[in-house]
Parts: sequence; C-alpha cells; structure tokens
Amino acid sequence: MRSLPTLCALFCTAILSHSVSAATQSDALKQEAAALIPPFAQQLMDTVQKAKEDGGPSAAIDACQDLAPKIADQHSTDQWKIGRTSLKTRSDANIPDDWERGVLEQFAERAAKGEDAKTMSYAETVDGQFRLMKAIPLQEGCLGCHGNGIKPEIAAALDAKYPNDQARGYSVGDIRGAFTLRYLGEKQ
Ligand code: HEC
Repeated sequence: MRSLPTLCALFCTAILSHSVSAATQSDALKQEAAALIPPFAQQLMDTVQKAKEDGGPSAAIDACQDLAPKIADQHSTDQWKIGRTSLKTRSDANIPDDWERGVLEQFAERAAKGEDAKTMSYAETVDGQFRLMKAIPLQEGCLGCHGNGIKPEIAAALDAKYPNDQARGYSVGDIRGAFTLRYLGEKQ
C-alpha cells in the first residue's frame, strides 16, 4: 500500500494539473477572443467612414443600421459569437443580458477609480461558457452620432430609426459600451 504522503502527493498533483490546464485553456480562449476584436472594430469604423464620405451622415446611419449587425455576423465564427452592447443602447438588438450588464457596471466602477478604459476587459466562464467583454472608449470621430449637440439632420435620422435611442450625450474617453464575445465551442 502507498504511504499517506505519496497518496497525498498524487492527489495534489492531480488537482494542480487540472487547475493549471483549466487556466491555460482560458488563457488561450482569452487570446483568441482578443484577436477577433480589432478587425471587427476596424471594419465597423471603415464602413461608417466610407458611408459618410459617399453619402453624408444620414447615409452613415443607414449603413450602421444595415451593416453593423451583418459585420458582427461576418466576424463571428463557428466557435465565437461577437457583438456590441452598452448600458445606454441605441439599437434594442444590443441590449445587454444580466451578465453583460453586470460587467458594464463593473467597467464603469473601474473607470471611476481611474483605470484606463482602453485596456479594460473582463472574462469569465458563465454556466460552462467562456465569455469576454472589452470596453469601447469614445473617440473624437464618434461624437457626431453619440456626443452632445448632435446636428439636427443626424438627430432626425436617428429618431426615425431608433425610437429608443439612449446613446447620446457622451464625451471623448467615456465608455460607450463594450465588445462582447461568447465561445460556442465545446463546454468547459
Ligand atoms: C454615423 C453615425 C455613427 C458614428 C460616427 C458612430 N456610431 Fe456608433 N452607432 C451608430 C448607430 C446607427 C448604431 C446602431 C447600430 C445598429 O443598429 O446595430 C450605433 C451603435 C453603436 C454601438 C452598439 C451599442 C448600441 O448602442 O446599440 C456602439 C458600442 C457604438 N455605436 C460605438 C461607437 C463608437 C465607439 C464610435 C466611434 C468610433 C461610433 N459608435 C461612431 C451610429 C454611429
């Protein structure tokens, strides 16, 4: 029969290697998720910019409404669903679920304590599913559609398309919302 210390050592090693491999797996998922965000963000920005150049601000709003959900689908894969959400949504399709709301509130608290929103993110396995959110700070180029004093022409286009729009009145540096990702691959 094995001695008690040997058994204990075996047992401890088993526990340790299990938690180490769980940590490694979630690190790998964090990296995969983080890599999906920049191309998604870039395509959204390029699309709005191009629509603005081609047809002006109200064309850009049309483009956002029509294309933003499609761009999110394009950047989602068999394993990942990617989207955007906010505590003050413009589109009802982006209203956060309970977990997302909690994370957005956590981001607001972290920002209030002085943390830089540019690098703010949070990941957790929720009911066996890995989820990650990354804060979206508002930039200069967003003010025309999300800032204070939105031009009447743009405000009218927004009113017509988004009767529940709450996504106005932001300043540069505010957290506008977050990218939100779910891992649809195998359950952990
Ligand atoms: C031309 C106007 C326009 C500009 C410029 C613009 N947005 Fe938006 N934004 C919209 C519209 C319209 C929606 C709703 C899209 C939809 O229907 O899915 C939206 C939705 C969003 C959402 C999703 C959550 C929600 O409120 O529904 C986020 C996050 C967001 N915008 C962030 C930004 C950021 C950050 C910038 C600057 C980099 C920006 N937007 C620039 C018009 C704009």
